[in-house]
Amino acid sequence: MEVLIAANAEEAATFAAEAVLHGLASRKTGNPVLGVATGSTPLGLYSELAQRVARGEADFGSTSAYALDEYVGLEGTHEQSYRQTLINELCHVIGVKEENLHTPNGFGDSEEQIIAQAAAYDAQLTEAGVDVQILGIGTNGHIGFNEPGSSLGSRTRIKRLTAQTRADNARFFDGLDAVPTHSVTQGLGSILQARRLVLIATGSQKADAVATALEGALSAACPASVIQLHPDVVVVLDEAAASNLKNRRYYDDAAAGLQFGI
Ligand code: PGA
Repeated sequence: MEVLIAANAEEAATFAAEAVLHGLASRKTGNPVLGVATGSTPLGLYSELAQRVARGEADFGSTSAYALDEYVGLEGTHEQSYRQTLINELCHVIGVKEENLHTPNGFGDSEEQIIAQAAAYDAQLTEAGVDVQILGIGTNGHIGFNEPGSSLGSRTRIKRLTAQTRADNARFFDGLDAVPTHSVTQGLGSILQARRLVLIATGSQKADAVATALEGALSAACPASVIQLHPDVVVVLDEAAASNLKNRRYYDDAAAGLQFGI
């Protein structure tokens, strides 16, 4: 696991962009497949990638993107659905084509239908083979919408949101009551299938979750700790998110010695 601690938001975006582009470039055959996240955290990364596209250093015209999660009960055309969010914040920004954006479908006539859609999405993901999965982390240690207690081997499925997650996301809705209660999310086992994981966290509100995920025990109580099992993980933090780490000195020494880029 590489832990890179950036001096500011711009540097964090640069580190994350390097990690993503190196990961995509190492694909041997076929078009690149990028696993994408919503939320405030990856916006700096998307903007950095957009600048590289503008300078002719990157091109996502043939990249497929797979989302981590979607709300149950919102159609893909709903403005707060993660599909619409990614069309606005990813496709329109870095040039992934809308027809190449894949998102779980949390909308249906019955629970059985949504369960079947989740299983189909998981199979699609496995078939595509994600090269790089971008991850944020919740204040409670979730990745995707895998809330504390999620099985470390879980697959794409319906997951109830915690009260904390709903409160954290209420800023995007017309009050807390409008926030959906459930999501369809890639499971922790699904996420681990990606060839590289790039987890980004910024701000002091993430410091506890980051320390538990990186330096605590592997545990369903902190779903993000599952990244400890993955052989190729780049964690990009700012100073505030890194402030509770015990092994800080080691991460800095290791980052200074990185010879081959990330
Ligand atoms: P945020 O969300 O990027 O908006 O902080 C991260 C998450 O909940 O996974």
